[in-house]
Amino acid sequence: MRSSYHPRGGGGRFHRLSTVEHVRRCCPRGYARGVTGAEGRWNTADMAWERTVRSEDVTGVLSRVEVRGRPVLLGRTADGRAIAVAPRCPHENRPLDGAPVTGDEISCPYHHYTYDARTGENRSPRAQLPPSLACHVRDLRVYPVQERDGWVWIRLRRLPR
Ligand code: FES
Repeated sequence: MRSSYHPRGGGGRFHRLSTVEHVRRCCPRGYARGVTGAEGRWNTADMAWERTVRSEDVTGVLSRVEVRGRPVLLGRTADGRAIAVAPRCPHENRPLDGAPVTGDEISCPYHHYTYDARTGENRSPRAQLPPSLACHVRDLRVYPVQERDGWVWIRLRRLPR
């Protein structure tokens, strides 16, 4: 039986549980980072791949789609890889609709913060700031993407309750 311990077990209490029991008890919202199921990937109904739009409709400009009622922006990097990101910039929560993907970078049109299109990591201004300020710059949320059978599929995490 596979087992894992949960570092957020609460009050320093650690326990050993089977993987399934661990997720059921400790991660009811599906935030089961680092926990793998029997087939090597945790895959619940809430984390299934969702079909979105045809591949040819995804370009180098971020465009909005709704996935299970949730807005997501799809785009494409210069090397042809599809990406899916949260619809709002983490800086001042402004919409990123229509923002260009330049190379592998997303640039917010409002204050020109830039994010790595694949990881969501902030590139600017974080790189120019001292560590005491850089740690406050937030990353852009990204979603796993794959293209299959001419469609773009993304995987959402479960919505917080
Ligand atoms: S809102 Fe995007 S950089 Fe300020």
